[in-house]
Amino acid sequence: MKLSIVYYSQTGNTKKIAEVIKEGVEKSGNIQVKTMSIEDMDYKFLEESKAVIFGTPTYYATFSWQIKKWFDTCKECDLSGKLGAVFATENVLGGGADVAELSLIGHMLVKGMLIYSAGSSQGQPYTHFGAVCTKDGDEAQRDRARIFGERIGKKTLEIFD
Ligand SMILES: Cc1cc2nc3c(=O)[nH]c(=O)nc-3n(C[C@H](O)[C@H](O)[C@H](O)COP(=O)(O)O)c2cc1C
Repeated sequence: MKLSIVYYSQTGNTKKIAEVIKEGVEKSGNIQVKTMSIEDMDYKFLEESKAVIFGTPTYYATFSWQIKKWFDTCKECDLSGKLGAVFATENVLGGGADVAELSLIGHMLVKGMLIYSAGSSQGQPYTHFGAVCTKDGDEAQRDRARIFGERIGKKTLEIFD
């Protein structure tokens, strides 16, 4: 079972959180996880993945234009039927990461993905629309991101194993 974590990161925060989420997914069971920047994609691995977690920095309270361009122009990526989840980084609390996540989820729905975040269904910590970190996260935010990854991994196994 494969799971891709696909992100854009200009200054490294989102990349770091992608690695934290990867640790969480790996705790969930027998899943092979790969983190990849949209600038250096392994499209074969992506195609073989049952789930894809997308990560974006918050740009003016939405997701980054680089991710939007990737979605608009990517010919190789058939995401339909894959489980999809999101995470975002922002500079300050209230900087718009929730909106960034919801906007990104909209694109994923249009691509035919099955969206999941665990939300409040697993108790604390709640992961509403997805994991959120300010910059590269404090310890508590990183813990939540790790737990978020584990929950997405478990759901992937539950659906596709
Ligand atoms: C063009 C631009 C717009 C940004 N807009 C916001 C914003 O609206 N809210 C916010 O909290 N941070 C904003 N930021 C900060 C980034 O979201 C934040 O530093 C993020 O963690 C960067 O991720 P990266 O290090 O993976 O590139 C903006 C950064 C850039 C470059």
